[in-house]
Amino acid sequence: MKPELFIGALSGTSIDGIDVALVRFAPQPALVASHFVAYPEALRRELLALCVPGENEIDPLGRADVQVGRLFAQAINELLAKVALPPSEICAIGSHGQTIRHRPGGATAFTLQIGDPNMITAITGITVVADFRRKDMALGGQGAPLVPAFHEAVFQKQGADRIVVNIGGIANVTMLPGDTAAPIAGFDTGPGNTLLDAWSRRVLHEPMDRDGAFAARGKVNGELLAAMQTDRYFTRTPPKSTGPEYFSMEWLQRHLSAAGPVAEVDVQATLLALTAQTIADAIRRFPSIGPTDIFVCGGGAHNDTLMRSLQECLPSCTVGRTDALGVPVDWVEAMAFAWLARQRMHGQPGNCPIVTGAKRLAVLGGLWLPE
Ligand SMILES: Nc1ncnc2c1ncn2[C@@H]1O[C@H](COP(=O)(O)OP(=O)(O)O)[C@@H](O)[C@H]1O
Ligand SMILES: [Mg+2]
Repeated sequence: MKPELFIGALSGTSIDGIDVALVRFAPQPALVASHFVAYPEALRRELLALCVPGENEIDPLGRADVQVGRLFAQAINELLAKVALPPSEICAIGSHGQTIRHRPGGATAFTLQIGDPNMITAITGITVVADFRRKDMALGGQGAPLVPAFHEAVFQKQGADRIVVNIGGIANVTMLPGDTAAPIAGFDTGPGNTLLDAWSRRVLHEPMDRDGAFAARGKVNGELLAAMQTDRYFTRTPPKSTGPEYFSMEWLQRHLSAAGPVAEVDVQATLLALTAQTIADAIRRFPSIGPTDIFVCGGGAHNDTLMRSLQECLPSCTVGRTDALGVPVDWVEAMAFAWLARQRMHGQPGNCPIVTGAKRLAVLGGLWLPE
């Protein structure tokens, strides 16, 4: 089969900016080139505001939809210029867009991603696959996480249990049994970087606690940590998914008010412990055989303090990064959306019902054609 080129584009729950990956499928995927475009501060602030329920949301939503779509298209065109490829070489773009609300479960479950695909196809001249999550939700699923199917396709290894941990704004885990006939498992564990970033913005006026340096100087407050861990999300049985609209600054503020005075630096240390321990607890739920290799991806893989803490929580496992498997930590998710676009174009399913809880396998995403 002739190799195919697909592009995957997304901005995750950290709302840091747009990741674009150019992927060659032969048919195993390989990253050819990548590009990142940070959100301009004003747009980022508008997106953060849209993640919190408010009055008169439709106008700002409509404007952001267009602006995000335009910025996705610009990011994709910049990547193509970098590698000097014409749009005609690309089979399709898989655009996840930007999630601004995710409310799974209940009679009116919904999930909302913006970044108008019409804008992306009009500006790039390339077929766009978008709206990946809602079919799964229409089939009773969570619509998330979607990456485990991609993890299975590229990271599973016969004879060795593997766990993939994606630490974005929200963290999710995927268990890939060494018995490849056994079902995989996966779900959102809770906050990844979202609370760490929020607290860092509040007290350091920085978008992130780089390398976890601030957290490393603090002491974990056991009472605060225990109180946060009583949140029912952490013990709920999967399928489950969540978002920063739930693990929000308000959520943190509620716990802080109940806890009494805690030093700012200790709050950061405690939030880091919360991320590490809730991921570790989730991993311990998997009935795995013996010591397991854990491969971390997402921006959290750059946080050395967090990586150390995760290793300490899971002494019988080896905590490494997906780079060890040939996939750079920052591009796994964007590659997953290139893969999902390819699945759509080949009429193949993109969801993993055992993970999302959907009634059945489904081809995911709608098509936006340039002509
Ligand atoms: N050097 C670093 N030190 C600490 N945290 C980092 C570092 N690099 C990235 N991050 C974290 O990773 C986040 C971005 O991760 P990403 O995987 O893009 O998340 P998302 O998919 O939610 O956008 C940042 O918001 C930040 O919290
Ligand atoms: Mg990101």
